[in-house]
Amino acid sequence: MRRVLRVLRVLRVSGLATAALLATTPRQLDGQARIASPDGRNRVTVEIREGKLYYSLERDGRALVLPSLLGFEFRGAPPLRDGLRLTDTTRRSHDEWWTQPWGEVARVRDHHNELAVSVEETGAPNRRFSLRVRAFDDGIGFRYELPEQPGLGAFEISDELTEFALADNARAWWIPSNWPRKDRSEELYSAGPVSTLDSVQTPLTLETRDGRTFMVIHEANLVDYARMFLSGPRMEGRTLRAALAPMADGIKVRGKSPFVTPWRTIQLADRASDLAPSLLGLKLNPPSVIANTDWIHPMKYVGIWWGMHIGAMTWSSGPKHGATTATAKRYIDFAAANGFGGVLVEGWNLGWDGDWIANRDAFSFTRADPDYDLAAVAGYARQKGVRLIVHNETSGGIQNYERQMDSAFALYKSLGLDAIKSGYVTDLTSEGHSHYSQFMVQHYHRVIEAAARNGIMLDAHEPMHDTGERRTWPNMMTREGARGQEYNAWSGDGGNPPEHETILFFTRLLAGPMDFTPGIFDLLRERTGPSRRNDEPRVRTTLAKQLALYVTIYSPLQMAADLPENYERQPAFKFIRDVAVDWDTTRVIDGRIGDYVVVARRQRGGQTWFVGAITDEEARTMDVPLSFLTPGRRYVAELYADGPKAHWLDNPLPVTITRRVVTRASVLRLVLAPGGGQAIRIRPE
Ligand code: NOJ
Ligand code: CA
Repeated sequence: MRRVLRVLRVLRVSGLATAALLATTPRQLDGQARIASPDGRNRVTVEIREGKLYYSLERDGRALVLPSLLGFEFRGAPPLRDGLRLTDTTRRSHDEWWTQPWGEVARVRDHHNELAVSVEETGAPNRRFSLRVRAFDDGIGFRYELPEQPGLGAFEISDELTEFALADNARAWWIPSNWPRKDRSEELYSAGPVSTLDSVQTPLTLETRDGRTFMVIHEANLVDYARMFLSGPRMEGRTLRAALAPMADGIKVRGKSPFVTPWRTIQLADRASDLAPSLLGLKLNPPSVIANTDWIHPMKYVGIWWGMHIGAMTWSSGPKHGATTATAKRYIDFAAANGFGGVLVEGWNLGWDGDWIANRDAFSFTRADPDYDLAAVAGYARQKGVRLIVHNETSGGIQNYERQMDSAFALYKSLGLDAIKSGYVTDLTSEGHSHYSQFMVQHYHRVIEAAARNGIMLDAHEPMHDTGERRTWPNMMTREGARGQEYNAWSGDGGNPPEHETILFFTRLLAGPMDFTPGIFDLLRERTGPSRRNDEPRVRTTLAKQLALYVTIYSPLQMAADLPENYERQPAFKFIRDVAVDWDTTRVIDGRIGDYVVVARRQRGGQTWFVGAITDEEARTMDVPLSFLTPGRRYVAELYADGPKAHWLDNPLPVTITRRVVTRASVLRLVLAPGGGQAIRIRPE
């Protein structure tokens, strides 16, 4: 009876139909609480079973995550896992809209129901913690909160015990976290049942076997914790467990109560095309702390960059040095003539000569190579109305970078430079910490904050994965964190396969913007090198697909990656000049993970739409209804389609550019070549 009363007490605050719940919970429970999303479809149950705390998730009454363990293991203290009792539950609802300074959509709604469940150890030291759960229509998030208490002051987490016990042997699209390069996200994706997973990175995208539900496991608001991976199935072969990246001494997280963890998130959708734009992570980050965001401006940029990747230029000094004053001015002229806002210059500073990965502490972030007059180039750019994007490759020499950071950022600010591309090419930091450890999470945050203080926007390569920090710090614009275009220049496996970007869209890109660097036109590299065999690294797309990537891959800093000379006399370059980088609305019209995707986006503050369609190695024909256009209005569609007999393998260059008047009633038939795509600009007539 006591037990029933306790269940009733818990249910009283739940606002749910008590009788119905009792009828469906025949088991004897120590304590249980539930919360449902505003639309009632997603429901989380938090419960104590034999002294342990579990959560589970269902959608439309169907189990997606079975009761999954929660808790921690510590160094020097017993695990926080056993002998728990439920002491309190609180509830709250929240509904709020906000306008983003920039983004895939202008307006975001955070509508959720929240449940906080407090538990306590029944025996000494009677430690306490809460699990805060938020249920949204597009997914759920939960985090641990450790209040200040005598039994839990300073602590060292050796493992987080959070499980994701999947009810279904869902199909997963994954990249490994343990092989071959421990500390990179620059891998090709594999697909297979979750029961075959070993150790994978998030976002992890899953499709239930009946195709009814798509789930994405990730995290949000990672500020003072280790990055989460998921380690392979145990129990019935379908339970993934949180695995945290270690610091040099093996400890995962050092903290002191009061303390909150990042949110563990599970995004939910009925169709793959409903996964994007993914806004769940933004809703689980605090609002912007930058009061005036006027200085933050999405832009397209060009750069002294691809030349180094294909071996036509060098980062180091010498006859092929890319970052000379003269070359930088030439790129600035090109940017100014074509309406690009920024020019990236890599290899401008001292430290590139010799083995720059091993000699990481030799990098100077203020002293330029004698070939390159930083102040003169910055002044020239200013005069032409463009900005330099300053490159800061650290090679993981974190102390070397942090020692120089304030003076370097102050220097850039004094020269009117407001954007940095950072780099962390390394597996372990100079201190021996994992690239994804708490140490590095704190470092990346110090950089974001120092940059914000100096009015600088950031583009991080080899970054921490995106957990939505751009909401709080809108100067954190974009990042790499996946296999980008650079692999098509030099990778030993020939480059990214044609399906790559159709997987990225539904995996990595759900975390946030990516600096993929699209726009390579010299696809066969005839002009910059000897003719190449097909197993040598090469861009494995058609030219029209390179254009479509400007729409399918979202980045507020978006590069036109090829050498300026390769854009000369190319009619298709007009699309790159025209395409927007900031969006009011994003609609995924159709898509299948690893096969194809079609996206339409409306330019922020304008009436022009852009459509991007990309396919894998299969040719496809698709009909795209333009029902997203404003009724009663006529538009001109400029279509950049794969030309006759285009094929990524041996005929990637033909593009057919046509123009036609369209309305909301029009349906466009898109014909995509193998490895192809189509890019469309639709402007009011
Ligand atoms: C790897 C980055 O992804 C690339 O963009 C950069 O050019 C090199 N590192 C050198 O920093
Ligand atoms: Ca990289």
